Amino acid sequence: MLLRRTTTLTNQLLLRCHLTTTTAAATPNPITPVNQDHLLRVCTILFQQQNSPESRLHSKLTSTHFQLTHEFFLRVCNTFPLSWRPVYRFFLFTLKTHPTFTHTSVSLNKMLDIIGKSRNIDLFWNLLEDTARHGLANHRTLLIAYRTLGGARELKKCVELFHLMSSNGYDYNVVTLNKVVEGMCGWKLVEEAKYLVSKLREWVRPDGVTYKHLIIGYCEKGDLIEASRVWNSMADEGFKADVDAVEDMMEIFFKRNEYGEGLKLFQTMRLKRMDELGLSTYRLVIKWLCTKGRMSEAREVFEEMRERGIRIDNLTLGSVVYGLLTKHRVREAYEIVNRIDAPDVSVYHGLIKGLLKLRRAGEATEVFREMIRRGCEPTMHTYVMLLQGHLGRRGRKGSDPLINFDTIFVGGLVKAGRSKEATKYVERVMNRGLEVPRFDYNKFLHYFSNEEGVFMFEEVGKKLREVGLVDLADILERYGQKMATRDRRRNRPRITEDTNCLSEKTEDTNDR
Ligand SMILES: *[C@@H]1O[C@H](CO)[C@@H](O)[C@H](O)[C@H]1NC(C)=O
Repeated sequence: MLLRRTTTLTNQLLLRCHLTTTTAAATPNPITPVNQDHLLRVCTILFQQQNSPESRLHSKLTSTHFQLTHEFFLRVCNTFPLSWRPVYRFFLFTLKTHPTFTHTSVSLNKMLDIIGKSRNIDLFWNLLEDTARHGLANHRTLLIAYRTLGGARELKKCVELFHLMSSNGYDYNVVTLNKVVEGMCGWKLVEEAKYLVSKLREWVRPDGVTYKHLIIGYCEKGDLIEASRVWNSMADEGFKADVDAVEDMMEIFFKRNEYGEGLKLFQTMRLKRMDELGLSTYRLVIKWLCTKGRMSEAREVFEEMRERGIRIDNLTLGSVVYGLLTKHRVREAYEIVNRIDAPDVSVYHGLIKGLLKLRRAGEATEVFREMIRRGCEPTMHTYVMLLQGHLGRRGRKGSDPLINFDTIFVGGLVKAGRSKEATKYVERVMNRGLEVPRFDYNKFLHYFSNEEGVFMFEEVGKKLREVGLVDLADILERYGQKMATRDRRRNRPRITEDTNCLSEKTEDTNDR
């Protein structure tokens, strides 16, 4: 009932704003400061009276004497990001009591998004239809709609929406379709996106880009069978997969240990599309071959890359160095590093990670010193790897009488006011059989990335040095000096998932 009545109202409103959009768009609503007190009162009423009859709700709202502005409306929406009722009823109130107030695509999208998120699909659809009919839908509206309808698995409506837009004068073509498909795949709605593509085929023919998004979507979901199926239908239609998509596919195969399949794909590319193969594909293949210790194959690929005049980058060299080390080919690994004029952090990480895998923590720390000497600043990841390399086992036992893992790290956590986390590690010491999470060096270092850390790491460094743990002392002191001050923290490289360095592996190795 409510719905039917409001739809008509909405129609009136939309008609009204349609007439005024041109001017509204030219002069965007000036942002007037919102009266916080009014906002609070209005939102309280909307919340408390959301189920009250209209007359009561409206008279309460009117009695606050708030000033309705575009910004005010948006702020009300922000207060109820997941509840359609207060927002929608406020919207109705604006229609009825403020006939000169103009809604815009921005305010309508905002409301649609909330209604969609609270899964009131009927209301959502009605408003969407009105919006489209009056030419007020824009690109954002479309994405909100596909996210909502796809997420609610309203597949028919997904298809209908496309027609709805087209019949209201929106010029929809494969470019629009691809944007929608890309968005949906990003929201993990690849199934729904594929359905949409197949149902619209008669009107919009998918192209290579459409397929690429679908393939990547399925790859990211880990569904190789479906990814291959899309791949094949793409090939049948005469489209070639983008190199990006090929790499994504290959990576999934590698990650799942289906090396044969991954390499087969690479082989196909080599045979049929050699001229399109560039650094990124080679880097990917070499990385995985090295990770698996398949060094002779890695060498072949490496040589081919060189012959074709593709410049070898630091990341690739880092993978090779790591691969050689895992095969105990230490001398060759160093030779490679020494031949590089200016190795960057990924080369050093390959070296450190490989040495740690060979349980040469001391030597890895030498590399750490060397990189500093050569002006290559260690990152958070360097520190975490090294700490794991040194402390993985010793730390856990906490057997060193003077300076041990427990006093530095667990005690450190307590000092940093993280008693709860500290308890977890104490529990581990007390009860060896208990499954407790591994010590998170990363978090620990973050907690001490402040002024307190400067002091803490200096003190700890001194004590460690006294008992002869020079490596650890150097690592922690350096961390304190470099990472702890505010300015530096701001410049600190983000902790990236440097796939060249699987830090978890490092710890496992030392734990064994
Ligand atoms: C490695 O990185 C450094 C620093 O960014 C750069 O100067 C050097 O040219 C790179 N080397 C290669 C082989 O790409």
